[in-house]
Amino acid sequence: MSTAFSSIPIVDLSRLQDPKTKSDELAVLRNAVFNIGFLYLTKTGLEQFDFGTECKDWSEDEPFWQRIEGPSQYPNDSIKDLVQRYTSGMSEIGRQFVRFVAECLSLPADTFDTFLGEMSRMKLVKYPPAAPGSQGVGAHKDGIGLFTFLAQDSVGGLQVLNKAGDWIEATPIEGSIVVNVAQGFEAITGGVCSGTTHRVVAPTSTTRYSIPFFQAVRLNLELEELKRSTVAIVAKIPVSDDKKKRAVDVPSELISPLYACFGEAQLRNRIISHPEVGQKWYPDLYEKYSKMAMA
Ligand SMILES: [Fe+2]
Repeated sequence: MSTAFSSIPIVDLSRLQDPKTKSDELAVLRNAVFNIGFLYLTKTGLEQFDFGTECKDWSEDEPFWQRIEGPSQYPNDSIKDLVQRYTSGMSEIGRQFVRFVAECLSLPADTFDTFLGEMSRMKLVKYPPAAPGSQGVGAHKDGIGLFTFLAQDSVGGLQVLNKAGDWIEATPIEGSIVVNVAQGFEAITGGVCSGTTHRVVAPTSTTRYSIPFFQAVRLNLELEELKRSTVAIVAKIPVSDDKKKRAVDVPSELISPLYACFGEAQLRNRIISHPEVGQKWYPDLYEKYSKMAMA
């Protein structure tokens, strides 16, 4: 449950990794996952790459300012390689991160390891300039995965809704990754750590680019297993009984008895969210899930 926060906390991964500063930083992380659902993760060691329209390299007979243009910073000839490096680096940061989250909730560090899935996903998102106040992405909570790790450029536009109903700007902080609780983690913690509504307001004069990375949940996780784990996990998290009581029966399509496992719930979510794609590639499932949605 988000509170009436006015800013988004900054968590330093290198301080979590350092035994001397770890406990102080775990307290910052605990506040973020309990009360806000959002944080900036800094000092991740992740590389950044710039891309642009292909240009030739600068040569000495050209003006010095021409050096601002040049070839994109491909580490080699293949985008595939770059994306794979990003996803494997981000996966490792994600694995470390959920261990620190477990510790900040006073749980054994490996508590969430068993929930991690194989295929995390990333997107390269472009928001072209639009009229003031235009929607980039409408208000939503992230429905896929445990946590979302978002690299954003310096343009801004991401906003997070607090409990008072105010939209708080997630102003870009260079070198940071914005991390937020997704509904998979909300389900696993029985709603004690809940996702927070957010949106993107389109830029007005400069294109915004962002790269969300959605940390996967194990697809074959079944409802009964999830329920048992959730009860055990919630019992160990040191929050008030009141908060635990409110956490019971959190409405979530991810823990619905309608679906065999997490994988089915996620596939259904994608099919319903993208009906044209769903109709084309999964016609039988599209029909089944759209009927269920209307029932
Ligand atoms: Fe989102």
